[in-house]
Amino acid sequence: MQEVSGWVGPAPSSAPSSRGVPDAGRQVKTEERVLTRRPTPAAQAPARAEDSATRRTRRVAAHFPTGKTLGSWRVEDSSIPTATQNALTTLEWIGRKENLVVSGPSGTGKSHFTEGLAHAAIENDLRVAWFTLETLESTLARTKIDGSMAKTVARICRADLIVIDDVGLLPVAADAAEAFYRIIDAAYERRSIAVTSNIHPSGFDTIMPKTIATAGIDRLMHHAHFVQTQGDSHRLAEALAGRGVVPLT
Ligand SMILES: Nc1ncnc2c1ncn2[C@@H]1O[C@H](COP(=O)(O)OP(=O)(O)O)[C@@H](O)[C@H]1O
Ligand SMILES: [Mg+2]
Repeated sequence: MQEVSGWVGPAPSSAPSSRGVPDAGRQVKTEERVLTRRPTPAAQAPARAEDSATRRTRRVAAHFPTGKTLGSWRVEDSSIPTATQNALTTLEWIGRKENLVVSGPSGTGKSHFTEGLAHAAIENDLRVAWFTLETLESTLARTKIDGSMAKTVARICRADLIVIDDVGLLPVAADAAEAFYRIIDAAYERRSIAVTSNIHPSGFDTIMPKTIATAGIDRLMHHAHFVQTQGDSHRLAEALAGRGVVPLT
């Protein structure tokens, strides 16, 4: 496990090059930091109609929660070190079948950053599957009826990146914990998993059966980049600044 938190471990000294993200070559300039979007072969070449269609299909199949991308991500407003953000946006870790675990308080950008990376993965011709524990549980629960669980797990693991968002917000039912474990086990060293959580992974045994948590976390964290976010909720800050709604007239 590599810790790349703002307050637990050092950030990588240099961001790996290559792959990159869709809006390649563009730099998002901020007051203090610059997030460099590296050009990629996929992004540099003019998109062929069939490639665009494939990406569109994959975007729909991924079931993204909000459609937020790195385009609306403000580097300087994140507690994740810029070098870490840069290294993750290369998407090289997905090529290496490594995992990403983002944990920290609510409203600190865990889901937005992860969804931005996942959109970038689609633009780089990768497949993504996005779940919460609840949607994962319901997807696998259906397969218990007709005995197609193994097939469904294998289908989910065709994605290069499998995201399980917001682990720990709600108590985890036994079936959801089992679904969580099955995907982690099936994807282990074969696919990348990204997990976001408001609790530290070492505390997952407080929200799911200990045996499942221990075995799952062991596999998840073995090849994982661990990023911790911190600070106040961006949602609360926006609400308090009166930017949460369009003013009533
Ligand atoms: N660095 C950032 N740049 C742009 N928007 C951000 C940033 N961090 C958080 N936000 C916004 O704040 C809100 C909460 O972020 P979210 O990713 O849902 O938090 P979390 O998953 O940690 O609870 C969202 O509207 C998100 O777009
Ligand atoms: Mg979230």
